[in-house]
Amino acid sequence: MADLILIAASGLAREVLATVRDSGQFDVVGILDDDPGRAGTTMDGSHILGPVSDALNYPDAKVVVCVGAGGGRAGIVERLAGLGFPDRRYATVVDASVRLPEGCRIGHGNILLGHVTLTADVTIGNHVVVMPGVTLTHDDVVEDFATFAAGVSLGGGVRVGRAAYLGMNSCVRERTAVGAGATVGMGAVVLADVPAGETWVGVPARAVKRAMAVA
Ligand SMILES: CC(C)(COP(=O)(O)OP(=O)(O)OC[C@H]1O[C@@H](n2cnc3c(N)ncnc32)[C@H](O)[C@@H]1OP(=O)(O)O)[C@@H](O)C(=O)NCCC(=O)NCCS
Repeated sequence: MADLILIAASGLAREVLATVRDSGQFDVVGILDDDPGRAGTTMDGSHILGPVSDALNYPDAKVVVCVGAGGGRAGIVERLAGLGFPDRRYATVVDASVRLPEGCRIGHGNILLGHVTLTADVTIGNHVVVMPGVTLTHDDVVEDFATFAAGVSLGGGVRVGRAAYLGMNSCVRERTAVGAGATVGMGAVVLADVPAGETWVGVPARAVKRAMAVA
C-alpha cells in the first residue's frame, strides 16, 4: 500500500483521513501544516509532522493537498513546484463508494468523497475537490483547483473553470459554464454562464450585488 501525506490540518483533511482509512487505498504517514503550534500534535489519530515544505523529506510518499479553497490549494502546489516537488507525487483519493466509469478522465491531486457520481465522459483536471453526493454528468469538464461542496449537480456538457467554487446543493443547467474563480452560492440554480470571478446566488441564480464603497 502506498504511503500518503496530507497537507493542511483542515476539516477536509479529516474527511480524507476517514475515506482513506475506510478504503485502505493508502497508508497515512501524517499531516503537514505551516502552523508551528500544531507540529507534534495529532488530529484524528494522525501526527502533524511539520511544515508543508517537509513534503520533500518523504520522497516515497504520495501527497494530497487538503485546503478547502481552490486558491489556497493552488498556492501550495505552486510553492512546492518552486521547491522542485514533482507532479507525479500527487495522489488522487477516491472514496470506496465511487465508481469511475471507463471514458472518464481524472488527473492527479484530486479528492472524491463518498457517493460522488460520474456518469459518462467526465473530465476532471488536477487538485479538484468533490465533496459527498456530487453528481457530474456526461461530457462535463472540470478544470484544476475547482471545488464542489456536498450535493452539487451538473447537467451534461457543463464546464467549470479553474478554482471555481460551487456551494452546497447548487445545480447548473446543461451546456452552461461557471467561469474561473467564480462562486455559486448554496442552493443556487444556475441557468446561464457565470462570468469568471463573479458570485452568483438564488433561484434562478444572479450576480450578488456588492455595496459600493463610499468615498
Ligand atoms: C454565496 C456565498 C459565498 C456568499 O457569501 P458572502 O460573500 O459572505 O456574502 P453574504 O453572506 O454577505 O451575502 C451577500 C448577499 O447574498 C445573499 N446570499 C448569500 N448566500 C446566498 C445563497 N446561498 N442563496 C441566496 N442568497 C444568498 C445574502 O442574503 C446577501 O444578500 P443581501 O445583500 O440582500 O443582504 C455564501 O453565502 C455561500 O453560499 N457559500 C457556500 C457555502 C457552502 O456551500 N459551504 C460548504 C462548506 S463544505
